[in-house]
Amino acid sequence: MSAMKRIIVINVKGGCGKTTVSTNLASYYATQGINTALFDYDPQGSSMRWLKLRADELADIYGVIAHKNAAKAVTMSWQLRLPTETKRLIIDTPPGLTGSDLRDQLKGVDKILIPVLPSPLDIFATADFIRDLLLDIKVRVNKTSIGIVANRVKRNTVAFQSLERFLDTLNIPVVARLRDTQNYLRATEVGMGIHELKGKNIYVDKTHWKDMAEWIDQD
Ligand SMILES: Nc1ncnc2c1ncn2[C@@H]1O[C@H](COP(=O)(O)OP(=O)(O)O)[C@@H](O)[C@H]1O
Ligand SMILES: [Mg+2]
Repeated sequence: MSAMKRIIVINVKGGCGKTTVSTNLASYYATQGINTALFDYDPQGSSMRWLKLRADELADIYGVIAHKNAAKAVTMSWQLRLPTETKRLIIDTPPGLTGSDLRDQLKGVDKILIPVLPSPLDIFATADFIRDLLLDIKVRVNKTSIGIVANRVKRNTVAFQSLERFLDTLNIPVVARLRDTQNYLRATEVGMGIHELKGKNIYVDKTHWKDMAEWIDQD
């Protein structure tokens, strides 16, 4: 595996699946034997709570509480805090980042994953957010670095179809379509990723993370 990659999971909306994507992706890489770090910029600390639940015998993930209000001084550059052998850095973020906060957060990232729920309000908010990313903030965001994760997808619903149409117009790829399934809740409860769970009904969900990682890892 070649260079280190920084992957940020971000959307102005809360509850769209940022933490679900961050934790599942981190554990996917870790179980592949890839040195993985997970930074939690959300003061709610959901990713770090998940990491605490993770059993010692599972593949190791290096966690950092990265938000400004954390007890320790964590305002220093995160590059300094990363183990040198790290190959994948997953960055979980709070909702509502705009302006200079958003710009700072995006500095130096290689891939931007944007989870979207198939509801009209989420789609509108995400459309504005992507417009911000591409036009307003003065950081060079390469369009090819952006991937959409359609989350909690139920096919054949009007909301899902309008999400697909919206994404088509942007010409930004949907790198995964995650099912709405209790499997994610089961995994979260025990500090695992979905591919660390056993059971036949999980097979299809596991394939989504492999596809996502393939998109991230291509150059
Ligand atoms: N694909 C999914 N299927 C079922 N539940 C999901 C799925 N994605 C997220 N959830 C649940 O929805 C809630 C919000 O997801 P979360 O990842 O915490 O969003 P965010 O970090 O963007 O606020 C959580 O309770 C999570 O377990
Ligand atoms: Mg979250």
